[in-house]
Amino acid sequence: MTSTYDIVRERLQAAFDEVVPGADPVLRRSERSDYQANGVMALAKQVGRSPRELAEHIAGRADLSGVASVEVAGPGFLNLTLSPQLLDSQLRALLEDPRLGVAVARRPRTVVIDYSAPNVAKELHVGNLRSTVIGDALARMHRFAGSTVIARNHVGDWGTPFGMLIEHLLDLGEEEAIASLSIGDLNTFYQGARAKFDADDAFKDRARARVVALQAGDPETRRLWQILVDQSVRYFTTIYAELDVSLRPEDVVGESYYNDMLDGVVADLDRAGLLVESGGALCVFPPGFTNRDNEPLPLIVKKRDEGYGYAATDLAAVRDRVSNLHADEILYVVGTPQAQHLDMVYAVARLAGWLPEHVRCEHVSFGHVLGPDRKMFKTRSGETVKLMGLVNEAIERADEALVTRASGLDEASRVSLATQIARAAIKYADLSTERQRDYVFDLDRMLAFEGDTGPYLQYAHARLRSIFRRLGAPWSPGGATFALGTQAERDLALGLLGLPEAFELALNSLQPNRLCNYLFDLAQRLTSFYEACPVLSSEGAVRAERLALCDLTARTLEIGLSVLGIDAPEQM
Ligand code: ARG
Repeated sequence: MTSTYDIVRERLQAAFDEVVPGADPVLRRSERSDYQANGVMALAKQVGRSPRELAEHIAGRADLSGVASVEVAGPGFLNLTLSPQLLDSQLRALLEDPRLGVAVARRPRTVVIDYSAPNVAKELHVGNLRSTVIGDALARMHRFAGSTVIARNHVGDWGTPFGMLIEHLLDLGEEEAIASLSIGDLNTFYQGARAKFDADDAFKDRARARVVALQAGDPETRRLWQILVDQSVRYFTTIYAELDVSLRPEDVVGESYYNDMLDGVVADLDRAGLLVESGGALCVFPPGFTNRDNEPLPLIVKKRDEGYGYAATDLAAVRDRVSNLHADEILYVVGTPQAQHLDMVYAVARLAGWLPEHVRCEHVSFGHVLGPDRKMFKTRSGETVKLMGLVNEAIERADEALVTRASGLDEASRVSLATQIARAAIKYADLSTERQRDYVFDLDRMLAFEGDTGPYLQYAHARLRSIFRRLGAPWSPGGATFALGTQAERDLALGLLGLPEAFELALNSLQPNRLCNYLFDLAQRLTSFYEACPVLSSEGAVRAERLALCDLTARTLEIGLSVLGIDAPEQM
C-alpha cells in the first residue's frame, strides 16, 4: 500500500512542481491539523513572491479531491485535514498489510553496522550498553526496511595488554584460567594480570616478550591468545542472548582480523604520498584537523615501537567494508569521545581513495549512562558496573513484581515474561532518550508500567490482545469500515496511519527515539480511545470498527517494538 503521507505529499508535490520543479512541500504531522505543509515560505523567498499569496495559489492548484481539505494559516502554512474517505480506505488497506504501510526499499542497500565492540578479557560493562542496544535497534530497523545488514562486532582483541594476559593465563594454568573466564569473571582475571604487571619486573619482561611473540605469529602464543578470545566471546554471547541482541559469534570481526592488511594500508598511504614521519611515528595529516594551538593534527598509523595501532586497523576496516563487503553505508555506533578519531579515519580513507563519495560513513554517537547521583555510573567502590549484573537485577525485580500481579503463571512462564519485561525496560530507556544526551540508569522508573517506558508499551499491547482472547473465537476484520464517529477514534486512526513516516524519520536520522516517541504517543491515543469508546460492549458495525482499530494498534505496537529489539508478549 502507499502510505497516507506519500499520498498526500504526491498530490501537493504536483502543485509545488508547477512553481519550482522538485520544491519540497515539507509535509509534517501537526498539532493544529492532520498534516501541515511548511515548504511554502522557503519557496516564496526563492521565487520572490509573498508567502501568503503563494500559499493561496498552491492551495488552489493542488488536486486534493478525496484526500484532504486545505486551509492557509499564519505566514503561509498549509493546514491539511484528511478526508473521511481517505481515512477509511487507508485503514482498510492497513488491515491487509502485514507491514502496516512501511515500504520496502526498492533498491536494497548494504549497510555495515559497527557496534557493541567490547574488549576481550574485559567485562561487558554499562559503557558497552548503549552501543549494543542502539546498534542492534538500527540493525533491526535497517533489516525491516529491506537493507542487507552486515553487523561488525569490532572487539578489541589485539594490542600490548595481551602479553600480560597470556602470561597470567600461563601462571594460573589453562584449566583454571578457562574456568574463571567461562563464568564471566573477566575483571578479576584482567586485574590479576595488571597487578602483577605493575608490581613484578620479571613478569613485565615476560609480558613484553610475549607481545613480540604474538605479533611474530608464534603458534603456541597464538593458541593461548585464541583461548582468551574464545572464552570472552562465549561470555559476550551469553549476555547478548540475555538481552536478545541479534549479534552472532560470526559477527565478531575483531581488530586482529585486519592484521594482515596493515602493511598494505601503510604501503598504499606511502605510495599516495600521504605518509609523513613525525617524531618517529608514521602519520597522515588530513586537512582540516587541528589541535587547540591550531597545529595540524596527525592520525598516527604506526608508532615508533608499538607497531600498528587502533587507527591503522580502522583504516583497514573501512577498506575491507567498502571493497569486500560492498557497503553503501557504514555506521559506527561508538561513544562520543571517539568522534574526532572516526572523522579523521574517514578523511584519510577518502584521501586515499578507499572511501568513495557515494558511501556514507556516519558516527552514531551517544551520551553516557549515569548513576542515581547523575555522575558516571560506578559501583559504590568506584568500579565499572557489570552489564550482566544490571540485567539480572532488572529480571529479578520484574519477577518480584509479577509474583504479586500475575499469580496465575507457573514459574517458568513467569521468569520468561520477567526477562522480556526487563529487556524492554533497559532497551527502551536507552532508545527513547535522544542519543546524544546522557540518562540516569534508574530501574524503578524503567520498569514502571506507567509513563514513557518499555513495559508500559508492552502492557498496552498485551491488554489489546486480551480483548481478542475474551472474544472466545478467532477474529477477522471481515468487512470492517471506518466511520470514526468520535474524536478519540479519529485520533487513534491518525496515529495508526503515521507509522511509515515515524519509522522513516527514525531511520534516516538514525534516532530510534523518534520511533519510541511515536509508539508512546500512539499508546496515549489508545488510552483516550478506551476512555471514550467501549469495545466489547458496543454493537454491530461500531463494534467491528473498534475491534479493527484495536487489532491495528496491537500490530503497530508489536512491529514498532520488534524493530527496536523489544518483545511484545501476548499476556502480562
Ligand atoms: N573497542 C573499542 C572501545 O572499547 C570500540 C571500537 C569501536 N569501533 C571501531 N571501529 N573503532 O573503545
